[in-house]
Amino acid sequence: MTKVTFVEHNGTEHTVDAADGQTLMEAATKNMVPGIDADCGGACACATCMIYVPEEWEGKLDAKEPMEETMLDFCEGVADNSRLSCQIKVTSALEGIRVTMPESQH
Ligand code: FES
Repeated sequence: MTKVTFVEHNGTEHTVDAADGQTLMEAATKNMVPGIDADCGGACACATCMIYVPEEWEGKLDAKEPMEETMLDFCEGVADNSRLSCQIKVTSALEGIRVTMPESQH
């Protein structure tokens, strides 16, 4: 299990145990974290699972696939460090990661 913290736009923190191989989106929705709606169920087609990843963690994640890049282009509040949490697999390398969510997702 890997501890992951999701921080809502209002600053409320949710630390959850994520299983390796799960996506960050799955870890959030299984634990009822508000702000990760995941309307498409992880198909990279809705962008309601966007998170911001702090710079120091970016190198530990797999690079974005073109489909994720395209979806992010349509997201409200997108930033350079935006990622779709359904496209990020949990590994032990992510122990302690802290990601934030945009104002549009609450
Ligand atoms: Fe829909 Fe991630 S859950 S894009």
